[in-house]
Amino acid sequence: MPREVVGQTEAVNRFVRHATLRQLQLLEAIVRLGSFTRAAEEMFLTQPTVSMQIKKLTETVGMPLFLHVGRNVEPTDAGREVYDTCKGILRSLGDLEIKLADLKGLKSGRFRLGVITTAKYFAPELLGGFCEVFPGIDVSLKVTNRTRIIERMAANDDDLYIFGEPTHAGLDVEATYLAPNPLVILARKDHPLVGQSGISLERLAEERFILREPGSGIRDAIARRFTERGIRPNVRMELGSNEAIKHAIIAGLGISALSLHTLTLDGGAGRLAMLDVEGFPIERAWYLVHPKGRDLSTIAKTFLAYAVDREGEIRAKLAHTDAQLRACRST
Ligand code: PGA
Repeated sequence: MPREVVGQTEAVNRFVRHATLRQLQLLEAIVRLGSFTRAAEEMFLTQPTVSMQIKKLTETVGMPLFLHVGRNVEPTDAGREVYDTCKGILRSLGDLEIKLADLKGLKSGRFRLGVITTAKYFAPELLGGFCEVFPGIDVSLKVTNRTRIIERMAANDDDLYIFGEPTHAGLDVEATYLAPNPLVILARKDHPLVGQSGISLERLAEERFILREPGSGIRDAIARRFTERGIRPNVRMELGSNEAIKHAIIAGLGISALSLHTLTLDGGAGRLAMLDVEGFPIERAWYLVHPKGRDLSTIAKTFLAYAVDREGEIRAKLAHTDAQLRACRST
């Protein structure tokens, strides 16, 4: 049977002659991030390059694509129409890559994993082991906070994601339990509260608290715990990384809440101790997540099964770190 002719209208010809896939990618990033500057950063381009490409796309479309609102931009009605169409095109290209990779089987292909900051202490090990089994696969790992990971998932940037509370933000996802991710209160080993049992949240609120940046899942979990009890922590500073927080605690700048995973490599090198605070650890978990209705590639499915099988190893590491920190508390 003859195949339907698609893609030969005048409008399609105009786009094919004048627009580029790169311009569509840029438009998608600008709409998603609300800013030319952030889109330029994300795509490793200069802002003038981004502006020039969008100017060309505007000429092809024949209508303005963006309105400036303060320091941000918003798409016009025409911009939104182009955005919806280009999302479809980009998604189809992504799906094509998955299908081609599937045709090649697991011998080669690409696997992109996006994880929240606490999973970076285990994800490289997972990927390393996976690559030993499937050496032809190229892997990439993106580590960032919860809000950015959810944004990446909305933009289809990675094949699979690791984060917690996958259904919390009303996300329509498929989630597979991976491992525990307990949140504990840490202080410097010589802090006066070390060794005390059943410390109340009220007492904890008298201490200077170091908090993660807005957008962090840890920050939200801590804020919720305090708010539930109508208590405000005494926030001394905000820091954008778990490592920086560990250093700040050791430097005597305050106490903080961190995932036990952040200590699995060095156990705080003996300079941090876990406080025995009521309601802690907050028992959370990591999940392997992907948007519902989006087919996983064979590689992603295989990785998922491989990761789930490693739960025991992850638990064993946590138990070891937990024991180390408890030993600190009692000495
Ligand atoms: P975060 O998430 O990096 O967004 O704080 C970490 C976690 O929830 O364990």
